Amino acid sequence: MHNVAVIGSGNVGANTAFFIAEKGITDVALYDLREGIAAGKSLDMMEAAPIRKYRNRIRPAESLEVIGESETVILAAGAVRAPGMKREDLFAENRPLIAELAPEIGRLAPRATILIATEPVDLITTEFVKLSGLDRNRIMGIGGCLDVTRLRYFASQELGLSPENISATVIGRHSDGMIAILRYCSVSGLPLTSLLSEEQQDRIVEQTRRAGDLIVAMAQRSSAFYAPSAAIADLVDAIHMDLRRVSCVSLLFQGEYGISGVAMSLPAVIGRDGIERVLTPKLNDEELRRLRSSAAELEEILQSGGDQ
Ligand code: 2OP
Repeated sequence: MHNVAVIGSGNVGANTAFFIAEKGITDVALYDLREGIAAGKSLDMMEAAPIRKYRNRIRPAESLEVIGESETVILAAGAVRAPGMKREDLFAENRPLIAELAPEIGRLAPRATILIATEPVDLITTEFVKLSGLDRNRIMGIGGCLDVTRLRYFASQELGLSPENISATVIGRHSDGMIAILRYCSVSGLPLTSLLSEEQQDRIVEQTRRAGDLIVAMAQRSSAFYAPSAAIADLVDAIHMDLRRVSCVSLLFQGEYGISGVAMSLPAVIGRDGIERVLTPKLNDEELRRLRSSAAELEEILQSGGDQ
C-alpha cells in the first residue's frame, strides 16, 4: 500500500499530484466531491506522461474508500481565502467538512499518515486529531514547512544566492503569530544572522509573514498553491522514502513548552511512521511568550467555533 490519496482536486490537490508524479514518488488517487473534476484533471496530467516520463499513475477515485489503500492521505479540500480575508475567517466554513471527514478517514485509513493543507491549518489539524481518533504522530499540517520555503526564498533573494543553500526554522502558528527563529537559520552552515543586517532580517521575516496574503491580494481569484503543494510533495517524499527528514510541521502539542491541546508548527523528524520525533529547540523568553499567546488564541477560536 504505497500510494497517496488526495482529497480535494482544486489547485492545491491537483498540483500536489502533479509534483508527486514529476518527482516519481508514488501513485496518486485524486478524489473530489464535485463530480468529474478529479477525472478531468487526472486525465489531463496523464496526457503529459509521455513527455514528462512519469513512472507513476495519477487516477481519479470514485469514492472516499480509496484511502483504505493509501499510505498517505492529503486533505486539500475546503474553501480558500478571498482578498481581504484572514485564514481564521475560513474556520467556521471549513470546520463542518473536517468534522465529517476526520472520523471517516480515521475509520477507513487507520494506519495512514494524514497531511493537512486545509486552512486555517493549525485549527484544522487540532480538530482533525481530536475527531479522527488517530495518533498525533500520524497527522501533520503544512503551515511551518510552507513558511520555511518562503523564508528560504526571501533570504536567498536578499543574499543573491541559491535558495538550496538556505536552511530555516519557523515555528508556531501559520499566521501573523509565526515565529521565524533566524539564529537557527543558516547558509551552508554559516549563521544567516551573520550575513544579513537587522533591517534585512526584519524584511525577510515580514515578507514571509505576509506572503500568503500578498498572493491572494495579487492573484484575486486564487490563493497560493504552488509553494503549498511543493511543501506537501516534499513531506510525501520523506514519508514514502522513509527519509527521516527534519521539516517544520503543524502537530498537536502534548506538553511541549508547557502547551497541550492545540496544533502549531515545530521541527520534527518525518519518515515512514509519520512524525517520528518532535524537536524542541531552545527558545528565548520572547519566543516562549509568543508561542504561549498563540496557543491561547487558538484555544479561544476553538471554543468559539470561529464565530467571532
Ligand atoms: C498561504 O498561502 C494557502 O494560506 C495559505 O499561506
